[in-house]
Amino acid sequence: MSRLPEDFLWGGAVAGHQLEGGWDAGGKGPSIVDVLTAGAHGVPRRITETVETDESYPNHVAVDHYHRFREDVALFAEMGLKCFRTSIQWARIFPLGDELEPNEEGLAFYDALFDELLAHNIQPVVTLSHFEMPLHLAQKYGGFRNRALVEFFERFARVCFERFASKVRYWMTFNEINNQFDTRNPLYLWTNSGVRLTPDEDPRAVVLRVAHNELLASALAVKAAHEVNPDLQVGGMVSFVPIYPYSCDPRDIEAAQVASRLRYFFFDVHARGHYPAYAIREREKHGYDIGWEEGDAEILAAGKVDYLGLSYYMSTTVKADAHTDELSAAGGLPNSVPNPYIAESDWGWPVDPVGLRYSLNVLTERYELPLFIVENGFGAIDEINADGSIDDDARIEYLRAHIEQMELAVIEDGVDLIGYTPWGIIDIVSYTTGEYKKRYGMIYVDRHDDGTGTFDRSKKKSFGWYADVIRAGTVAR
Ligand code: BG6
Repeated sequence: MSRLPEDFLWGGAVAGHQLEGGWDAGGKGPSIVDVLTAGAHGVPRRITETVETDESYPNHVAVDHYHRFREDVALFAEMGLKCFRTSIQWARIFPLGDELEPNEEGLAFYDALFDELLAHNIQPVVTLSHFEMPLHLAQKYGGFRNRALVEFFERFARVCFERFASKVRYWMTFNEINNQFDTRNPLYLWTNSGVRLTPDEDPRAVVLRVAHNELLASALAVKAAHEVNPDLQVGGMVSFVPIYPYSCDPRDIEAAQVASRLRYFFFDVHARGHYPAYAIREREKHGYDIGWEEGDAEILAAGKVDYLGLSYYMSTTVKADAHTDELSAAGGLPNSVPNPYIAESDWGWPVDPVGLRYSLNVLTERYELPLFIVENGFGAIDEINADGSIDDDARIEYLRAHIEQMELAVIEDGVDLIGYTPWGIIDIVSYTTGEYKKRYGMIYVDRHDDGTGTFDRSKKKSFGWYADVIRAGTVAR
């Protein structure tokens, strides 16, 4: 085999709230993302109590895909995409989140989008909760710290499965569900779960309870999908940043092994249908009350995922005695240290293509499930040439190097990989910084952080490059 199989899902990925705009269109309710202000590299985004008139919220307009999706889909088709990963915004379907009946206009929007994709032979791949939920659920219930949300999420998921089962085969429950384990950055708990900590709370106790509710919600959603149509494939999704030991000092090896549980925990439960021993012991040792109820073991066991979705951007390295506890972008881990063998992007993200092959193999060996790389990409400032063209060679090189390692994992190592959807196939609003200038796309969008721009779309050099890769089924030419 010298190329990836014909049915390999080459695609592109985005999230509804970073792409669509139309934040109050079609009956949509305000979401937890609609109260996030813009930040910058080193300047955190703020969470405001409600939508305030004198603040600027970049996700409100994003790149206006809500009104321009037909033009975008035509470009995706020209690129040759076989699939397109996006998310259904929960607040479009249930504007408050606790209603019994969905909002028909919200469902109709996704019908129109999915029909347009399918008409161009592009499979929609859908995340149910990608850093977004109705703001009302955070305000009234405290987000996923409240078990009531398990039922609300299950209802939302079931409505989506019933409506779109004939159009969408691959689903994911929660995007990068593991980000919130870094409780030092309030953004993560907020966007994963609609949760804000109070100063008197033990963050670990809160996040474990939140995680339990989401694991139940995910398991119930998987079960619902299979009831609606046994062919539906539902995956978990984590941010997989492999953790390397700094040296062969056994203390570094152990530090990396223990830290890696931050990456494995959610997949351990999603894939095996029960809690791993290390998590049960932690709970017992600290007396954490996760709100366990009779019947939970059965719910988890009945909702095992069909595949594992992962984002891969970087690796991180830990040194047992580093005593660093900074909120670094390099994995945000205590005791993380720079890896002397790896360069960093302008936003301080370590670039490590070999780590992708390593990760795919480690996950395959641990879980023996199909994998889906649903994010990988390079956020950068694009320079526009005098004639309007954009030569994003650094992005091409980043993607080429990662695809090369992905091919090795499949072709040489036998990893079962469903597809590859590079992140931000079209420029969108950055999640962590809320900026437009941190661009991932192969399609440029003329929109800027000062609010100027026409929203016009144009092709970067990477557009044609990726189209050639998809056609060839390989980067090896
Ligand atoms: C992942 C998220 O964390 O990384 C995306 O799933 C996000 O939503 C992407 O956009 C890149 O992060 P950022 O902050 O550069 O946009």
